[in-house]
Amino acid sequence: MDKFTLAADGVDPDLVPKRVLNTGAEMPAIGLGTFGSDRFSGEQVSEAVKGAIALGYRHIDCASVYGNEHLIGRVLEEVIESGLVKRDELWITSKLWNDMHGEGDVLLSCTKSLKDLRLDYLDLFLVHWPFPNYHAPGCDIDSRSPDAKPYIHENFIKTWRQMEQLAEAGLVRHIGTSNMTVCKLNLVLRDAKIAPACNEMEQHPHFQQPELFEFCRENNIRPIGFCPIGSPTRPDRDKTETDTVDIEDPVVVKIARRLNIHPAVVCVKWAVQRGQIPIPFSVYRNEYLSNLQCTVGEPLTDEEMKALAGIDKNCRLIKGQVFLWKDDQSWEDLWDIDGEITPP
Ligand SMILES: NC(=O)c1ccc[n+]([C@@H]2O[C@H](COP(=O)([O-])OP(=O)(O)OC[C@H]3O[C@@H](n4cnc5c(N)ncnc54)[C@H](OP(=O)(O)O)[C@@H]3O)[C@@H](O)[C@H]2O)c1
Repeated sequence: MDKFTLAADGVDPDLVPKRVLNTGAEMPAIGLGTFGSDRFSGEQVSEAVKGAIALGYRHIDCASVYGNEHLIGRVLEEVIESGLVKRDELWITSKLWNDMHGEGDVLLSCTKSLKDLRLDYLDLFLVHWPFPNYHAPGCDIDSRSPDAKPYIHENFIKTWRQMEQLAEAGLVRHIGTSNMTVCKLNLVLRDAKIAPACNEMEQHPHFQQPELFEFCRENNIRPIGFCPIGSPTRPDRDKTETDTVDIEDPVVVKIARRLNIHPAVVCVKWAVQRGQIPIPFSVYRNEYLSNLQCTVGEPLTDEEMKALAGIDKNCRLIKGQVFLWKDDQSWEDLWDIDGEITPP
């Protein structure tokens, strides 16, 4: 096998900022997303993972539901065997899909991801959504599963216990949540034996989630920010008329002009500087390179950070409509906006 080396224009992984977790472990402050949406094949995504590792990325955000872990696994094996990286220099996240919350299923899902990714442990395993719900991949946002269930804390904790067992068995180094709210996390913190190390949540300049962000930080839960660029390539089925476009915001565009970078890169830079861990997706080398380079370049000024804090539009893009469990509901019911868990 050819020796796989860090690209000449890559970024020294030691220089990329790190975040310390509640175990004392360090996690790279940026990762590569791997959800190819409807637009990119698993092969394109796994090639991007290979290209990104060659450029200095050490954190890859995977999930069983993205359907490409078996291809990413081949790349991970190759880069480790070639000697470019050691396993312990990589941070690999995977996620438990919603139809695998039941008794015994969490272990099954984790071992399948490990087998596909060709690893013997994960750095982080997340419960992808707090709702146990099967819906067909790619289904329309209006489709409803007859099996859809609301958040029932007692059931979530049963799933969480299984997550804890994975950590105790050493199959995963950290466990965490995703798509949670403050009130759900409060209950999890009350009842968990092992507190979530991270919470993956939607975060971009037009959707900053300040309350949840601060809650996570105060409780030593590291926020990982998905859709950091406002997911311009998300599936059309996930778009609504009221959605706003982060990379067209005049504040973002002005900063991009000053730094001579793409507005997308401003979003990534802001995220790292604010303290969340963005996981931007791209299959294009120039894009994922700029996203990594900006983490070590000249910081945004205090005025720019202030201006970006001021453009929050509370515009959630991934609304989760397919998780609704009753006919007469709106997607806001999934997000406990009144500060209480929406009753069943
Ligand atoms: N936990 C969860 O429930 C959850 C939900 C959603 C996503 N995620 C994770 O978060 C990751 C990121 O989210 P996302 O993929 O939806 O959205 P995103 O990262 O906000 O947007 C990705 C798109 O931004 C554009 N882009 C990226 N870098 C760029 C650059 N430097 N210059 C110009 N354009 C750039 C690309 O579009 P073009 O192709 O047009 O250039 C790319 O397809 C996913 O891949 C997945 O790993 C997790």
